[in-house]
Amino acid sequence: MGSGSLLALLVALGACQLGVWAAGRSKVNPRIVVSPRGEREYTFPRNEKYPVFYHETNSSSIYVGGEGVLYYYNFATSETYPVEFPVENGAQCLKPGSPEDNKNFITLIAKHGSEMLVCGTGACNPTCWHLTEKKKDAPQDGRGLAPFTPDTNSLVIVDYPNIYSTIKKSQQNGKIPRFRRVKGDGELYTSDTVMQNPQFVKATTLKHEDSYQDKIYYFFREDNPDKSPEAPRNISRVAQLCKEDKGGTSSLSASKWTTFLKASLICVDPATKGNFNWLQDVFFVNASDWRDSKVYGLFTNTWGSSAVCVYSFGDIDNVFRTSKLKGYDGPDPEIKPGQCVPFRQHTPSETFKIADSHPEVENRVEPLAPTRSPLFHNKHRYQKIGVHEVSASDGHQYTVLYLATDRGSIHKVVELPGGVHNIMELQVFSKKDPIQSMILDHERAMLYVGSSRKVVEIAMDMCGVYHNNCQSCLLARDPYCGWADGRCQSIYRNREVRQNLNLEPWQGKCQNGEVKEADSYQNVTVVPVVPFSRYYLNCPVESHYATYNWYHNNTLIKTCNNTHPQPDCFYFIQNVSHTHYGRYICVSEEDGFRQALVKEHLVNQLRFMSQKGQATMTLASWLQLLLMVVLVELFH
Ligand SMILES: *[C@@H]1O[C@H](CO)[C@@H](O)[C@H](O)[C@H]1NC(C)=O
Ligand SMILES: *[C@@H]1O[C@H](CO)[C@@H](O)[C@H](O)[C@H]1NC(C)=O
Ligand SMILES: *[C@@H]1O[C@H](CO)[C@@H](O)[C@H](O)[C@H]1NC(C)=O
Ligand SMILES: *[C@@H]1O[C@H](CO)[C@@H](O)[C@H](O)[C@H]1NC(C)=O
Ligand SMILES: *[C@@H]1O[C@H](CO)[C@@H](O)[C@H](O)[C@H]1NC(C)=O
Ligand SMILES: *[C@@H]1O[C@H](CO)[C@@H](O)[C@H](O)[C@H]1NC(C)=O
Ligand SMILES: *[C@@H]1O[C@H](CO)[C@@H](O)[C@H](O)[C@H]1NC(C)=O
Repeated sequence: MGSGSLLALLVALGACQLGVWAAGRSKVNPRIVVSPRGEREYTFPRNEKYPVFYHETNSSSIYVGGEGVLYYYNFATSETYPVEFPVENGAQCLKPGSPEDNKNFITLIAKHGSEMLVCGTGACNPTCWHLTEKKKDAPQDGRGLAPFTPDTNSLVIVDYPNIYSTIKKSQQNGKIPRFRRVKGDGELYTSDTVMQNPQFVKATTLKHEDSYQDKIYYFFREDNPDKSPEAPRNISRVAQLCKEDKGGTSSLSASKWTTFLKASLICVDPATKGNFNWLQDVFFVNASDWRDSKVYGLFTNTWGSSAVCVYSFGDIDNVFRTSKLKGYDGPDPEIKPGQCVPFRQHTPSETFKIADSHPEVENRVEPLAPTRSPLFHNKHRYQKIGVHEVSASDGHQYTVLYLATDRGSIHKVVELPGGVHNIMELQVFSKKDPIQSMILDHERAMLYVGSSRKVVEIAMDMCGVYHNNCQSCLLARDPYCGWADGRCQSIYRNREVRQNLNLEPWQGKCQNGEVKEADSYQNVTVVPVVPFSRYYLNCPVESHYATYNWYHNNTLIKTCNNTHPQPDCFYFIQNVSHTHYGRYICVSEEDGFRQALVKEHLVNQLRFMSQKGQATMTLASWLQLLLMVVLVELFH
């Protein structure tokens, strides 16, 4: 299908409602809505208010940290065991804010070298343990690694042997959040003036060609220094630090990072000038050249819409290397602010002084060229983003985004040559059970989705939802799935499957023998219905891009399409009379593909039963029949 006809289709579907931008190249509402069934799940012995999750890539197990306990669950073997982590030695909070504070909430589960590190609040006494097999060793001081009480603004990054954290080390002092190196190459922290009320989002380390150039990048929101009424109150940032930073040369700066710089992240829709300034989450995608490594940033705005903007670390590095410092007009020192210094040297104090008083660069980080605009935006309020790259049967890599909504579901969005397609909504939990965590296992192509009650393992290649029907399988444009041997199969089982991911017409790819006669009245379900009763004919709406038509005896009686989105396309018969009997069929139509979804033949229950013979009838149905006969006679 050419982009012209795609545009026409979108216009027909009501482009304003879809919230489409940029010449209608994106399909932003989920095409199919499914509740995954048969996936494997682990329900915790009790609800956990602040659950934390750890999954090791390429394993089939998960660790869940809760209040005073760590649960292990293996999805392959169903093996499960708890490890208790009670408050140690009667520790207590001096001034508990709530009874909850006097408990040990696990806040960190991580691999540190070959060991497993588990840390918790320890009743205002942050504590860590090493865990080997099912045994924990003696408790250790966990200040800086775990907060004193459960805290949502904490970030810990383990990059063995170093550990970085934003958690304060003292309960009384230290109101100003800092980004620290808490373990490894000597403690360092950010100056108090470089961030204003930061809310940390995520961090990563990035290797450069020369190891002294290796960086730490972290992403956060903070108060906008521009207080003018038209300026947004919050601003999204990326900060850089050199991994080999040795701290300053004076006693005051000895424990401070000397290579800190921050820049604004821009995510603006060029069509509406709509600014998405609230960074929610980011996901890092590695590439062999660090410059091509990407950051997928998920942003929201005040109106509850979301946008995804993609940045490259090459662009981010370029902004930090070449931009002027905001508010600094003096000469550049020999070693520029933000520059990493080789051979175990310290940053010159002159450079540090300039950077410390002017920590922000003037240039802003913009999304990837050539568009420098969001990948897409829509009216869903997303909370988390994950990105997976899948190589399809045409040999190309396709990028799939997993976006967790605030309603217990995940949208699966694919970047295709024809634009971005929202191909599926997976309702993982009920609408009131928020998704607390979404972990991607890139090796096994699995998602681990956690709430406060359970964790679910979902295969990314869920091809069964496409009804084992060639057209559905190809129309889905799911890069994990394709058609081969009469089945909709996973690309991981069969690399030779037929797919339809580019803009070619797809119809020819399904051979005649595989096309089902859509309108056929074969395999109709016979439904006996009592005269004068009410009856609902229900057709599940799976694709937001399809039109659903109900036919009665080959006459169109009802149409449902995206103009009035509804979970189901139903036809209601208020009072069944003899003209309502006959054959009903619900046909979905999308991109020229027709499929019969529901086929029912309504027959008069009274006649139907008498035809079937009465020998097999139970007493109850006899009484029911008797009552009906009486009613029918009364009305006649
Ligand atoms: C993942 O596990 C499988 C089987 O256990 C193994 O063959 C494969 O090499 C592992 N992959 C990685 C990247 O470790
Ligand atoms: C990306 O690289 C980082 C460090 O270089 C590594 O820790 C991480 O596991 C990599 N991620 C993936 C998905 O390969
Ligand atoms: C800005 O930040 C404050 C708190 O830091 C928050 O209450 C507010 O909702 C944010 N505004 C927007 C538009 O996100
Ligand atoms: C009718 O049902 C049978 C068995 O349930 C199946 O083999 C056949 O393909 C179906 N025919 C149609 C047209 O759906
Ligand atoms: C259904 O239709 C019959 C005859 O057309 C009428 O007598 C009866 O009152 C109707 N029942 C209801 C519930 O409307
Ligand atoms: C959607 O349905 C309405 C009637 O309910 C119809 O007029 C309109 O043409 C349909 N749109 C599409 C795209 O089929
Ligand atoms: C539909 O066909 C059935 C018989 O198959 C008949 O009883 C019914 O009256 C027909 N209804 C209409 C509206 O054509």
